[in-house]
Parts: sequence; C-alpha cells; structure tokens
Amino acid sequence: MSEARTKKLTLIAEEINVCTACRLYEGTNKAVPGYGDPSAEILFIGEAPGFYEDQQGLPFVGKSGRYLDYLLTLIGMKREQVFITNVVKHRPPDNRDPQSDEIIACNHFLKRQFEIIDPLVVATLGRFSMAQYFPNGKISSIHGQPKYADDRAYYPLFHPAAALRNPNLRIDMEDDIKRIPDVLEEVKKRRANAKPSADMPEDAKENAQDNGETDEPPQQLRLF
Ligand code: URA
Repeated sequence: MSEARTKKLTLIAEEINVCTACRLYEGTNKAVPGYGDPSAEILFIGEAPGFYEDQQGLPFVGKSGRYLDYLLTLIGMKREQVFITNVVKHRPPDNRDPQSDEIIACNHFLKRQFEIIDPLVVATLGRFSMAQYFPNGKISSIHGQPKYADDRAYYPLFHPAAALRNPNLRIDMEDDIKRIPDVLEEVKKRRANAKPSADMPEDAKENAQDNGETDEPPQQLRLF
C-alpha cells in the first residue's frame, strides 16, 4: 500500500521537477514537491518554498521549518511521520506571494498528492493554503477550528513565519497544534461510527450503505 503511494508520489515529484506551466520555475534552483510519509495521517500544506527550500528541494527547512519541527514535538511527532508540501512548488522571486494564476497552474499537483496520501487531517499553514479549503475564511477568526467534511478534518493554522514574527500568534499557534491529536481522534471516531460493523445484521448494513454511511473512499474536495 505504502509502496504504491511512494511510487505515485515519486512520479508526481518528477513531473513537478520539470514543470514549466507557470513563470515560477524561472530562476529557481530546485522544485520542492513535498516530504514525508506517503501514508501520513496528517498533511501540512504551506504557501511556497523560500530561499533554503529552493536550495535543498525540501519544504520548510529554513527558520519556519525549524519552528514547524518544534511544533511537531509538541504533539510527539517528527516530520517523517507527517507529509509536508506547499500550494506552489517553486519559489516565487524574492519570496513574494504566489499569484492566483500560479496557484491555479500548480493546483493539480496538490490535488493528486492529497488523493494519494488520503490524510485524516489537512492542516493548512497560512492564508494561501487555507483559501483552498475555506474560500471565505479569515485566518484570525477560524484558526484552530476544524471543519469535518469528506471523512476528514480541515484544520486552519497560522503560518509558522507569522507566529515567529508575532508572540501573540505564537501562543495561539502552539495551542492549535496541541489540539491536533484530538482532531485526529474525532475523525477516527466518526469513521468508525460510519462503518457498518462486522456483527451488524445484513439489512442494517444495507441501510447504512443506503445512507452513505460506508467506508467508500471519500470524494476529494467535494465541498469546495
Ligand atoms: N514557507 C512555506 O510556506 N513553505 C515552505 O516550504 C517554507 C517556508
């Protein structure tokens, strides 16, 4: 299972490495497809690679990345146990914001990574990734509030760089991160309750299936 996912993610990474679909590849050193466990329960989505990411071809390896590593320790995790990627896979010049045509051009990569990893929790880092799943959301009011949809949770978080700049956000960021295990448990509980159990009578199972309460793979991003 995981081998098949690794293979599919590697093929996508190869496509990303040679992608010229938008202007962002110009002048970059390396594309940054993503890093982590192909079967991760938690998918973190940042904004765009920065200077160090462009040098190394890996996401979140600069100052924000070191902080993200620290945040993961707060829930007893390491980056190898989650999957980390960005909305756009090449570094924007001078670390400017990604533009909407660039986000659109890159979006199919994220969508395909998402479908392969099939995470239980999608943690967005900052407003660009948040906008993918909460189109009208305002980060200051919705951060740390999970949305349960498509058999998973979408969990908006501040960007680590913003939290590093602002000590007040840092407190919220760390509180929000510490609630991820509860969000994960809630998704698992919901999935278990929706699954017809082996000892359920056949007609009850059929009813559950009629109600859509099955463990069929959820349709990705159906609500967005
Ligand atoms: N900021 C991001 O959003 N992504 C990275 O990979 C690094 C910094």
